[in-house]
Amino acid sequence: MYTTTVIQTLRPCAAPGTPAGAFFQDVVRGLSAMPKHLDSKYFYDAEGDRLFQEIMHCKEYYLTDCEMEIMQEQAAAIAAALSSQSGHFDLVELGPGDATKSIHLLRQLLQTGADFTYYPIDISANVISQLEKALPAQLPGLQMQGMNGEYFDMLLQVNAQSQHPKVLLFMGANIGNFTPLAAGKFCRHLYHSMHPGDMILVGFDLKKHPQIILNAYNDSAGYTREFNLNLLRRINRELHADFDPALFEHYPVYDPGTGACKSYLVSLQKQVVHIGDEVEVHFDLHEPIYMEISQKYSHEDIAQLAAQSGFEPVTEFSDQRQWFADCLWKRV
Ligand code: AVI
Repeated sequence: MYTTTVIQTLRPCAAPGTPAGAFFQDVVRGLSAMPKHLDSKYFYDAEGDRLFQEIMHCKEYYLTDCEMEIMQEQAAAIAAALSSQSGHFDLVELGPGDATKSIHLLRQLLQTGADFTYYPIDISANVISQLEKALPAQLPGLQMQGMNGEYFDMLLQVNAQSQHPKVLLFMGANIGNFTPLAAGKFCRHLYHSMHPGDMILVGFDLKKHPQIILNAYNDSAGYTREFNLNLLRRINRELHADFDPALFEHYPVYDPGTGACKSYLVSLQKQVVHIGDEVEVHFDLHEPIYMEISQKYSHEDIAQLAAQSGFEPVTEFSDQRQWFADCLWKRV
């Protein structure tokens, strides 16, 4: 058991109620906890976005290629399954990124004359404005409305403005960045944001040989290491901290029993880190910071998650190697 403490006095270095204030509070809370942890949602500043692009292109990170293969090779079958209900529907994508995968599906839906409006939802205003510029040029005739905000706030807004049946997309194995318990709660929340007959396509990274998974989170070019260390640099930049990233080592582990792939940063010496003038964080030698979970699923795990959150499995689309699955569920 590590015996480190966080000493916090007086003023926080970012105003409460602001995004920087929330970041400060989450960081201090996480580094005061035992064991220490940071929230992986903070990985994605501009440099984090850039590093994530590098990860998606590196050879060990198979997830993107697998899902791209599914979208390219099976777009017709997916489009047919999604537009099985007649009439207009709303296609709502949670976290579209640059839509390089979903564009295949959008193109196919347009080609087959499906009547739909595309609502990409993202917390990043930049992502939404890029999509609003790029997609209409690439997909003439696409009806779309970008939604900038939190998933559930924006889903409420889409529901308030359109009564059409909904098809949600939650791809990219983003569900894996929740613990199984949190994934259950998230899916239950989605269930309550949807109506009977609505559908959702969820991307899952499947359990496979442990070494393949571990390598994906420990790429030889070191992008995943930098992706994790970048959060320490972000805390330095935005919260005036003095982390020395060279004194922390990226340490991913994969447990084939539970399917949990977890990343840690391990302190290479006993040290004290300051956040602004007010906070001191004490690290023991080899003390870890838990950074992220990337949960892997079996088909049974997926069926259980669907059942416990009220969804009925409709069908699934998998890549040739059976490493990844996009699962279509219906809200009953
Ligand atoms: C965004 N998410 C699905 C990625 C994953 O595989 O868990 C984030 C990531 N972390 C390290 N590499 C990629």
